[in-house]
Amino acid sequence: MAEARYLGHACVLLSEGPHRLILDPYLTGNPQAAAAPEAIDVQHILVSHGHQDHLGDAIPIALRTGATIIATAELAGYCEARGARTHAMHIGGEHDFAFGRVKLTIAQHGGGGPEPGSYTGPPVGFLITLGGRIIYHAGDTGLFRDMRLIGEMNPIELAFLPIGGNYTMGIEDAVRAAELLQPRRLVPIHYGTWPVIAADPQAFAARVRDAQVIVLRPGETLEF
Ligand code: NI
Ligand code: MN
Repeated sequence: MAEARYLGHACVLLSEGPHRLILDPYLTGNPQAAAAPEAIDVQHILVSHGHQDHLGDAIPIALRTGATIIATAELAGYCEARGARTHAMHIGGEHDFAFGRVKLTIAQHGGGGPEPGSYTGPPVGFLITLGGRIIYHAGDTGLFRDMRLIGEMNPIELAFLPIGGNYTMGIEDAVRAAELLQPRRLVPIHYGTWPVIAADPQAFAARVRDAQVIVLRPGETLEF
């Protein structure tokens, strides 16, 4: 039995047996944050891109816990230069970790870093095999047709897709993404954090066919 705890915005804590990993740990400054960064105890930190609402507290958590940051070579280099242990990967690459397998996918979005004018590599999504099941976290992205290929090649048990619009897919496009990806279960993320990305997750859920949409409030946990 694995667990996914939604910590707000795009941050998800996954656990399975002794393994704990966190994705996009934006907690400090996150109006939705359901945990303090000091309370996070993980072995791995996956960061989809360098925007502050995704990189977030990754480096301080890595320095405190000794967790390894998994990211693109550019973003891993940025974190390593600040003292974190990292594992650099890139789009299309996969690697087996203690908890399971990670593969990096494309995402259509920006590659800026936290400092103005800095660049931390292209944004990515993650395919994570945990407890024998495949989880897809899309990161920040617009809709892209290759989602069909991702879905065809990977029976996705649980997908995390942005629905908030403005910076990413909104509801309309996320409904199409669900059709392309064909996940069994689907959790909407990256909405409601600020007024500019307000979206009604129930309106999204009502429009998705085939997949079971699970709306998690920040702090809620899904067993799968
Ligand atoms: Ni972003
Ligand atoms: Mn974002």
